[in-house]
Amino acid sequence: MGVALQQTDLLIKTRQQATQLEQTLQHLQETQLQLVQNEKMSALGNLVAGVAHEINNPVGFIAGNLKPAQDYVQDLFGLINLYQEKLPNPGQDLEDEIEAIDLEYIREDLPKLIDSMQLGVNRIHEISTSLRTFSRSDKDYKVPFNLHDGIDSTILILKHRLKPHEHYPAIEVVRDYGNLPQVECFAGQLNQVFMNLLANAIDALEESHRQRHLANIQATPHQILIQTRLAEDGEQVSIRIADNGIGMTEEVKQRVFDYLFTTKSVGKGTGLGLAIAQQIVVERHGGRLKVDSVLGQGTEFTIILPVTDETH
Ligand SMILES: Nc1ncnc2c1ncn2[C@@H]1O[C@H](COP(=O)(O)OP(=O)(O)OP(=O)(O)O)[C@@H](O)[C@H]1O
Ligand SMILES: [Mg+2]
Repeated sequence: MGVALQQTDLLIKTRQQATQLEQTLQHLQETQLQLVQNEKMSALGNLVAGVAHEINNPVGFIAGNLKPAQDYVQDLFGLINLYQEKLPNPGQDLEDEIEAIDLEYIREDLPKLIDSMQLGVNRIHEISTSLRTFSRSDKDYKVPFNLHDGIDSTILILKHRLKPHEHYPAIEVVRDYGNLPQVECFAGQLNQVFMNLLANAIDALEESHRQRHLANIQATPHQILIQTRLAEDGEQVSIRIADNGIGMTEEVKQRVFDYLFTTKSVGKGTGLGLAIAQQIVVERHGGRLKVDSVLGQGTEFTIILPVTDETH
């Protein structure tokens, strides 16, 4: 009797310890994920923010000087006009020179040229703003954020991977944005979710490039579709990221969110991207992350997020 009781007691204790151990292990994995995520993000974020900052100064000089340059050019043309009025016959030398440099053309082209420099500077300014949006560091509470800004800035960072390469045509990104309200979130973390999902989509398309024939690719070009919608009740938003890359088998689909699960070669994938994305969406934001995929046809991830922070 006593022995039996002792054994039951022992069994219960062992079970409890096993559960505890399991919980500790899970906790450890989550903490590790968070550490990796923070480390990855802060390294990239610092770099991006640093570059954006360094670009801003020289762009500032150019932007600041373009307007006076435009004014000086107008003044000089005015002066030339005046000379030409006062000296209608300046002599052969000057007439030859005016023709050689094509003064009429310069008069027409120079202001346009300066306008296009202005456009270029504006564009660089937008890019550097976008870089700063991407690398913004989160506070320890959620703040309202325009998700489209986050997606756009992430696409900008990944742009070099969308361009045509030696053997591949460009990857087209189609944005179908709904009318979204600002979402209370950790913006830097959500940018990382967008980054992980988009990088996977590009990987899947590149892999598909390797497998398909060029003629086939040209017939149905590779594409990433990003669709955002506000739910009818106005309380949730959805972000759908779909690619027509290699897709996955049922078996892979079951495991995509698993910690360290990867089908990519060493050095290409660590199997952390989706585990981190899921942690950010589900645990940090009370949302959902769903996957749908057909082998050989493509993959679709859907992020569902509450508009307002429900955790307070
Ligand atoms: N869009 C997709 N199309 C096809 N397979 C995908 C897609 N997204 C993810 N997968 C599969 O899920 C696996 C896990 O993805 P996850 O992002 O977690 O890790 P990874 O991309 O392999 O490595 P990394 O840590 O660099 O992100 C991938 O190895 C791939 O097999
Ligand atoms: Mg990945």
